[in-house]
Parts: sequence; C-alpha cells; structure tokens
Amino acid sequence: MHPGPFPSTRTVAHAALRGGAVVALRPARACDSAAVAELHRRATPGSLRDRYPGSPPPALTDPESCLGSVPGTCTIVAFTGFRLVGVAQVVGHSPVADVGVLVREDHRRRGLGAMLVRHALHVAYELGYREAVSFGGPENKALRAMLHRLGLEGRTRYTGDLLVTRVPLPYEPELPASEPEVGVRPVVHRAARI
Ligand SMILES: CC(C)(COP(=O)(O)OP(=O)(O)OC[C@H]1O[C@@H](n2cnc3c(N)ncnc32)[C@H](O)[C@@H]1OP(=O)(O)O)[C@@H](O)C(=O)NCCC(=O)NCCS
Repeated sequence: MHPGPFPSTRTVAHAALRGGAVVALRPARACDSAAVAELHRRATPGSLRDRYPGSPPPALTDPESCLGSVPGTCTIVAFTGFRLVGVAQVVGHSPVADVGVLVREDHRRRGLGAMLVRHALHVAYELGYREAVSFGGPENKALRAMLHRLGLEGRTRYTGDLLVTRVPLPYEPELPASEPEVGVRPVVHRAARI
C-alpha cells in the first residue's frame, strides 16, 4: 500500500461538537505522540478493553513508539485547543483497513466518536482501501449506539465473541432520520501525514 498525497490525509477539518466546542481533526504528527500516549494512559481499563477487544493495547502509552509510522496506516487526532480529546486509527491489512476509535471520557456523547469514524473511513478510502472493518465487544453499548448513529447496524455481525462491522468504501452513510447537522467545514490547513 502506497498512500498518495490525498487531501484529507494531509489536511485539517474543523467541526462543532454538541454543546458548542470546536474540534480540529487532522492526521497525527510525530509531535502528537505524547498526547496520544497520555490519552491512552488516562483511559479507564474498560475503555481500553473496548477499544482493543481481545488483545492488549499495543505500545500506545509509550510516546516513543505510539505513532510509529507503518505504511498504509494513519492516526487521526481531534483537538479542542491544545487538548487531545479523541483519536482514530486506520491500520492496514490490505485491501482491508482496520478502523478503531477512542474518545476521552469527558468528551463522549457529543458526536465526536461518530465524527472520527466518518473521517477515518474517508481517510481509509483515500489511502486506497476498499473495505474497512471495525471490531467491538458485544457488551459495548456506546459502540452500538454510535454504529446506529452512523447507519452501520445493518453492516454489523455478531461472530461469537465480537461485533464485526464491515463497511465498503467509499462510505455511503445511511443515516437515521434524526441525524443532526455536523459542522465539518472544508479543509483549511495542511498537515503532514504520519
Ligand atoms: C464508542 C465511543 C468511541 C463513542 O464515542 P462518542 O464520542 O461518545 O460517540 P458519539 O457522541 O458520536 O455517539 C454517537 C451516538 O451514540 C450515543 N451514545 C454514545 N455513547 C453511548 C452510551 N454509552 N449509551 C447510549 N448511547 C450512547 C450518543 O448519544 C450518540 O447518539 P445520538 O447522536 O442519537 O445522541 C466512545 O464511547 C469510546 O471511546 N469508547 C471506548 C473505545 C471504544 O469502545 N471504541 C470502539 C471500538 S474500536
């Protein structure tokens, strides 16, 4: 997988969270390593289990290695000001991208998780993937609610001990009728991809 210079793998988007705060979403840079590590260190054990079902988290609490660049991989960070409030990871198993998301506990239920997933699916497509897969524990109510919000319930299967969601790319949302407007504005700054 040789990702090309696609716009949204190199740029910043701004969006309004429910409640008013504005987040900036962009690909992670090497200088974000400490913030990504801190987000993982502060996450509860339950959140880490939900994010990495069936396997221990990789070395994401170690700033030195947490953003190690892997071809076909992109980490997307969401900041409010200087505070990292969420992260999505697109990890390549060509031609399928594995997408995972983690939102800081005090920023949940404000639309950020769904926003990060949409962004990650878009980035995965731009990196050349034609399918994305996401794994979750069957008890993960927040994940199920988020999948409902994203219109991805019909693409989710229970495989015995995991919820597996497979999304053909590009992602065509089939959103519930009550979906509120999400204020993602066009790209304004360029950012390096890692
Ligand atoms: C799953 C997770 C990413 C959701 O993040 P979030 O920012 O709270 O998600 P959103 O605000 O976009 O929520 C989308 C919808 O789900 C609902 N929702 C979120 N968490 C919920 C919960 N615990 N119970 C019920 N509904 C919930 C929201 O209210 C929203 O619905 P609405 O738009 O109708 O109001 C977050 O809970 C998290 O980081 N969990 C730990 C890691 C994880 O489970 N990752 C997923 C597997 S990779």
